[in-house]
Amino acid sequence: MSAVQKFIASARKLHAEENDAVKRWEKMTPLLQELLTDPAIKEQSKHWPDCSQGGERAENLLFYEDADYKFVINGLIKAPHTRTAIHDHAHNWTLYGVLDGTESIERYERVDDRSKADYAEVRKAVNVKVSAGKIDLVPPYEIHAEESGAERTVAIIVRAEKAGGFLQGRYDPATNKYWQGYGPKQLPYELK
Ligand SMILES: [Fe+2]
Repeated sequence: MSAVQKFIASARKLHAEENDAVKRWEKMTPLLQELLTDPAIKEQSKHWPDCSQGGERAENLLFYEDADYKFVINGLIKAPHTRTAIHDHAHNWTLYGVLDGTESIERYERVDDRSKADYAEVRKAVNVKVSAGKIDLVPPYEIHAEESGAERTVAIIVRAEKAGGFLQGRYDPATNKYWQGYGPKQLPYELK
């Protein structure tokens, strides 16, 4: 059984057993941690194509979608010095694991009273540099961005459901504009 197959089996078991979303996603973290240490997946990842972060919608590789529990495994490969937009994932839980390279993860807090449509004031609250093996658990509606450094970075992302089919928040701190857009395009990619 490959490390990915083992991850899927463990994640399915956890979804069957743990109905509380907060607890379930905390318990998913060590499963992804183990997957990130697998030498075979790291080797494969050297050949994964870069995902675009520009334009209206970003891209993710789609490795797996669970037919029963709906969770998905994505890949996100950023070319050097690539920055994601500041965004949230709406209701979707996300586990973001760095497989290769280093990057900066930023978290933002919302500081306005949410009374105006199309308007949001956000302030950078966290900016941490992370490297291979680091996992970031991103709860629903958490505002964040990532930026690769001088090298290509590879992340394996596990989401509660496939992104792309529903609206997610976007934020521009320069203009305080808030808007919504569809999440990343899902590009099917076969894991070996
Ligand atoms: Fe994100």
